[in-house]
Amino acid sequence: MADASPRADHWAIVPAAGIGARMGTDCPKQYLPLAGTPVLTHTLERLAAHLRIAGIVLALREADPYWRALAFHCPKPLHVVTGGASRAASVLAALDWLAGREQPEMPILVHDAVRPLLHADDIERLCAEPLDEHGCLLATALTDTVKRTDAAGRVRETVPRDGLWTVQTPQRFRLHVLRAALAGALAAGSEPTDEAQAVERAGFHPRLLAGRRDNIKITVPPDLPLAECLLAAQTRSDHPTETTQT
Ligand code: C5P
Repeated sequence: MADASPRADHWAIVPAAGIGARMGTDCPKQYLPLAGTPVLTHTLERLAAHLRIAGIVLALREADPYWRALAFHCPKPLHVVTGGASRAASVLAALDWLAGREQPEMPILVHDAVRPLLHADDIERLCAEPLDEHGCLLATALTDTVKRTDAAGRVRETVPRDGLWTVQTPQRFRLHVLRAALAGALAAGSEPTDEAQAVERAGFHPRLLAGRRDNIKITVPPDLPLAECLLAAQTRSDHPTETTQT
């Protein structure tokens, strides 16, 4: 009988070598507690638990003092590489390690260390998309009105929001496409803020998939209490019987 369960056919890359300057804390934001558990633990455990994930490559800062103390359950292979001076360099270091071990066509998911609320449904939907050279990524359509300001903070323009999205992670690409795109961007002195930007620069047009709005990125201090509320809401809706018992 054919096996209907999905295959573990994707590697995940988690760039976690940033210092999170916008958070204003001594401890990098990926190690701050979210409902009592470090943000990075949530992120790694959600990825590692998913059936489509074969393993994880984690990019850390050199001599990261927090990593060794991190407790987490990871039933998949996990390899640590030293990240670089930028997010793109950190992801490229992980891809370089993978390139020596996996086929060039291998699908890769790159996921921010600081998006701890990634839901299994979103991983599943992203991995189920047909994968071509262009790749695909999670995003949410803009719903607020968008303004452009001048240096004094005064509105100069209302930007039509049709067709505008804010993008999330995971972002999914073939290993060789993303590796070449990031290497090309870095060699040209460009600093892509996400993987798709590097792939676009190489002439591709990644496809956006509407993701859940609770897949937030922890960036500034109010994001942590917001993430705790969203985590509680996820737990209530995913395990209604556990959370309604008194
Ligand atoms: O700074 P930002 O929030 O955009 O960082 C997004 C992700 O990229 C974080 O998970 C951060 O740790 C990672 N990063 C990295 N190497 C860097 C800078 C950021 O892995 N040099």
